[in-house]
This record gives sequence, structure tokens and C-alpha cells, in this order.
Amino acid sequence: MTPLPPRSFAEWRAIARRRLPRGVFDYIDRGVASELSLARDRERLDAATIVPKVLRGAEPPVMATEILGTAMAAPIVIAPTALAGLVERAGEIRMARAAARLGLPVCLSTQSVTPIEAIRAEVPEAAIWMQLYSWADEELTFGLMRHAAGQGAEVLVPTLDTPVPIRKDWNDRRGFGMPFRWTARTMLDVALHAPWAARVILPELLRGGMPAYGHYPEGSRPTLTRASGDPRVGFAPPRDWDAVTRIRDRWTGKLLLKGICAPEDAVKAAEIGADGIVVSSHGGRNFDACPAVLDLLPDICGAVGGRIAVMADSGVRHGLDVLKYLHAGAAGVMSGRLPLWGLAAAGEDGAQTALGCLLQELEEAMILSGLHQADLPGMAAPAARRVA
Ligand SMILES: Cc1cc2nc3c(=O)[nH]c(=O)nc-3n(C[C@H](O)[C@H](O)[C@H](O)COP(=O)(O)O)c2cc1C
Repeated sequence: MTPLPPRSFAEWRAIARRRLPRGVFDYIDRGVASELSLARDRERLDAATIVPKVLRGAEPPVMATEILGTAMAAPIVIAPTALAGLVERAGEIRMARAAARLGLPVCLSTQSVTPIEAIRAEVPEAAIWMQLYSWADEELTFGLMRHAAGQGAEVLVPTLDTPVPIRKDWNDRRGFGMPFRWTARTMLDVALHAPWAARVILPELLRGGMPAYGHYPEGSRPTLTRASGDPRVGFAPPRDWDAVTRIRDRWTGKLLLKGICAPEDAVKAAEIGADGIVVSSHGGRNFDACPAVLDLLPDICGAVGGRIAVMADSGVRHGLDVLKYLHAGAAGVMSGRLPLWGLAAAGEDGAQTALGCLLQELEEAMILSGLHQADLPGMAAPAARRVA
């Protein structure tokens, strides 16, 4: 009997766990500290219920929408994930292609292995949003923004919830980091996953290099095994609203601030001219006392009153989770780990299938709940409009 293809987050994750070195798997999978924030997002999503409505007509639910001027087949954006190119060779290109096939935008991390121009060249049809981790040299950061705009990045997404690089015990324990530490343990880990090493590391070695942060200036790029050493590209996210305002002043496109949890910060974001925010616990990877995103949404949406788009992320595993975030007021969601597991399990097709399952589940959830776009406050708000 042919086994059924994987459908659920748990199945994709299980395959990824077999195929990836443990260090890479844990880097993606784990949360910070005691992993309370990671668990809290899931607990609240699991516990949330929606009263279903009946006799809502026979029309299939409309999932297509527009967020910050980007049309998309469903209110789902691929979240920025650093080093997605370590999951699979040319991982970011494969992810962008999978997303484009489904009509979903992809948000590229500043710390991706593949730079935006290579993705644009390979997947010209991709809707690309650009996440921003600022460098110590502000002018270099502005240069990166100009470059992203020139490559057609539709939305800039500065991440505000990561003031310093986050220490993660799991990464330390596995020897996984930038730079990566060669120890007996990490060598064994890589040796036990030789097909991964042959796909992802060997081609770079044969070209005389190592996977690196592709957006960093030539000559200053941190690679998997070597730190940059150039203080100009040190990790230096905005420290205050003036720094965010300077980014706003230099970016003519839409600005989406990622990692906002307090209503007063959401209001401030609207005041300085941001077009939207992502309410996020960073997937349980940053501040372990962060409340569940689902619990934060109502107050934040109330505080900004539809003036800016409010997106949500963290913990999306099923289409039902997407509906729960939309029901709580989000205009759309970002999803990080799910497409990475698909990519790790079966490359581009895996990412596409995993995301395709998410879309199908969202459609089913909308049908069974009887909820239409007009019933979902964030999707009905001016900042996010249905696409006919
Ligand atoms: C492996 C990994 C790398 C990430 N790298 C970044 C990053 O470079 N920039 C950023 O803003 N968020 C980053 N995130 C956070 C995601 O953008 C997103 O907030 C989070 O993954 C959402 O939770 P989920 O994985 O449960 O969907 C990363 C997440 C993961 C899992």
C-alpha cells in the first residue's frame, strides 16, 4: 500500500528531523529559555474556539486578499527565517518558487543565504517582502534598503523584537551558530546526515566557500564558519522610535514593523507612519514571558482601530490557527516553521505541498465555521481588502 503523503505539521516536522543534522533541526524547532512562550502560543491557539454559523450560502469562501498593496491567494505570508538556505540547497529560491506557485508572498530575511537579486532572477514572478535587521553602519543599512527596493521588494519589514542576538541553549549545546563550531559532536552530526551535507555544504565547498549571509557587503559576509569581523555590519537593530522614523523616511514603499506586542507600541507605529505591524512572539524564540499572540490581538486591534494593518504570527500549524488569528482581528498571518519543514522534507515540492495543505485547511475551516471575509474584522478592514 502506498503511504499517504504527509499532510500535517507533525508529519512534515518528523521527516525534517530525520533529514536535517540535529543542530539545524533544533535551530529551527526550539524556542528560547524554558520554551514557555513557544508552548503558550500553542496552548492558546488550541484552546480557542469559534462559534460556527449555519446557512451562510453555497458560495466557496473567498480567501484571496490584499495586504499592504500585495495581492495574495490567501492571507498568509512566508515568514522571514534566517539561513533557510541551510535547510536545502538554494532554499530561499525554492521557497520563493513554492510560494509564488500558490500565490503567496515570501518575506526574505536580511540573514538569508541567497540574496534578493538571485531570487528575483530565478523567480521573477515572486511577491517579495524584505525583512530588515539593521547594521551598525546606518548608511550601509539604507543601502541595503535601496537595493531591496530596486529588486522590487514590495514591503519592508524591520524586526523590532530582537534588540540583541538571542542566546539559545539548544544552539549552544549542538554547536550550531554563526560561526558554526566544528567539534566531535557536530562532525558526527553532519556525518550522520551525509546526503544533507552533499546537497547543501559540498557545492559551496567545491566553489571554495561556505554558506554565508548573502545580503552582507562583499568582503564583510559572515559565513557558516567565520564571523565577519567588520564592525560596520554588526547587529544593530533600531534602539528607539527615531531610528525607526529614519527608516520610514528613507523607504518609500509600505512599512510593516515586526514584533510589536504592546498596544502603545502599535499606536506609536501608526503615528510614525508605519503601514502595518506583525504581532509576534517571534515563534517563541525571543522573550520567554511574552503573552500568547492570540491574547494580544484584540487590544492591539482596538488600539489602532483599523488605521494600519495588523498581522500575526507564531504557532501557526493548521489552517484553523490561521482562522483563529483572523477571527481575533488579524489581517493575515506569517508562517515560519511549517514551510521550512516542508522544504526540509521534500524541497520545493514539500514547501508547496505543506503550504497547500494550510490553504486547504483554511478553506475548510471557513466553510465549517460559516465565516466569510466580512465576518473577519482584519480582512474586512481598509488595510486588507479582498481581491475579487
Ligand atoms: C529558523 C528561524 C529563523 C528565523 N529568522 C528570523 C529572521 O531572520 N528575522 C525575523 O524577523 N524573524 C525570524 N524568525 C521568526 C519568524 O519570522 C516568525 O516570527 C516565526 O517563525 C513565527 O512562528 P512559527 O515558526 O511558529 O510560524 C525566524 C524563525 C525561525 C523558525
